[in-house]
Amino acid sequence: MTANQPRSSAEVIALFDRYVIGNYKRFPVCLVRGEGCYVWDAEGNRYLDLFPGWGCNLLGHCPPRVVEAVREQVGRLIHVPNTWYLEAQGLLAQALSERSFGGQCFFCNSGAEAVEAALKLARLCGKPNRYKIIAMLHSFHGRTYGALSATGQAKYHHGFEPMLPGFRHVPFGDVQAVADAIDEETCAILVEPVQGEGGIRIAPAGYLQALRELADRHGLVLIFDEVQSGLGRTGKWFAYQHWGVEPDIMTLAKGLAGGIAAGAIVARKELAAKLQPGMHAATFGGNPIACRAALATIQTIEQEGLLPRAEQIGQRFRDRLRELQARCPLIREIRVLGAMIGLELQGDGTPIVQRCLERRLLLNCTQQTVLRLLPALTITDEQIEEGCHILAEVLNEAAEPTTVAAS
Ligand SMILES: Cc1ncc(COP(=O)(O)O)c(C=O)c1O
Repeated sequence: MTANQPRSSAEVIALFDRYVIGNYKRFPVCLVRGEGCYVWDAEGNRYLDLFPGWGCNLLGHCPPRVVEAVREQVGRLIHVPNTWYLEAQGLLAQALSERSFGGQCFFCNSGAEAVEAALKLARLCGKPNRYKIIAMLHSFHGRTYGALSATGQAKYHHGFEPMLPGFRHVPFGDVQAVADAIDEETCAILVEPVQGEGGIRIAPAGYLQALRELADRHGLVLIFDEVQSGLGRTGKWFAYQHWGVEPDIMTLAKGLAGGIAAGAIVARKELAAKLQPGMHAATFGGNPIACRAALATIQTIEQEGLLPRAEQIGQRFRDRLRELQARCPLIREIRVLGAMIGLELQGDGTPIVQRCLERRLLLNCTQQTVLRLLPALTITDEQIEEGCHILAEVLNEAAEPTTVAAS
């Protein structure tokens, strides 16, 4: 069986049924091509994608500068390990450091790996006696054991216990709960400035500043997980910049390389110096393709003015969704920070996602009741209107009382 003869969605699904582990809930559609905010399935249907690549396709599908950089790099040098120096990795570290808080970078391939690196570095800094990490309820940090133990949602732990020791979860937004949880063995606080998978929950005013103060007072490492919110997604390079506080370590992945797998941490130099040769590594981390893709992503954001554009995108969605909320009783709350958009519904959002799919609109439902949109920063106003129009139709239909046919 060769991969280059086109197959129908049904044929591909049959392959999956037989050969691929069923650990994902998938829509019965095989996607074959993407361009900007649209994707096409094997049958030629076009979909408007408001959740491209689970947030990885920050610039939409196949962004031209990223495609060009990857094409060029693939023909020159695909991979060399970290026993060598690579210009692109050095330049990417410089770009991230200069746009954040002046730290040093370690590169890996995913969000969970970035979180693992941050946790290991935090524990290293807590030696000899401190190892406990305070993390937040409803957080999401990934599926590897460290990241999973840090994740404050029991549903993801079920079946995989025991989790790693030393994690304490407290309500997101509650400063006093963090203060109460700190003891002489605590080494770090881990928080997402905007909880993404947790339902687009934005840090309340003063919260991150208060965590910074607590960390400074107790000598703790403050880690911001910006895997979902980072690299321009919210209208600033990093979401924490909305609140004017800096972490000691920041994690990045998802949109970092415009859809190519990449992860990173940025750590303050004094902390970073603790990671000595042999203590941590990732074979593919910082490979030339990912680094060139990330540099092209940063260049695109800068040259196309996508930081202010992210704010405009958020404003436009907010306006449209508020208009809709005024007419549609299903919408409980709208939460927006740049191109991170959450729509809390009165009930289950899963059927809404299904009906949107039937109308060729792709979005996500998280925490059962929150519709999550992570549109590409390249989305046009027309595409926003198109998406909001379909969503409005679907939500209004769902809000109508079901009419029982008179017999
Ligand atoms: C904030 C945050 N951290 C970590 C992760 C894990 O990333 P990955 O799936 O790339 O391991 C995610 C994924 O959704 C995330 O949203």
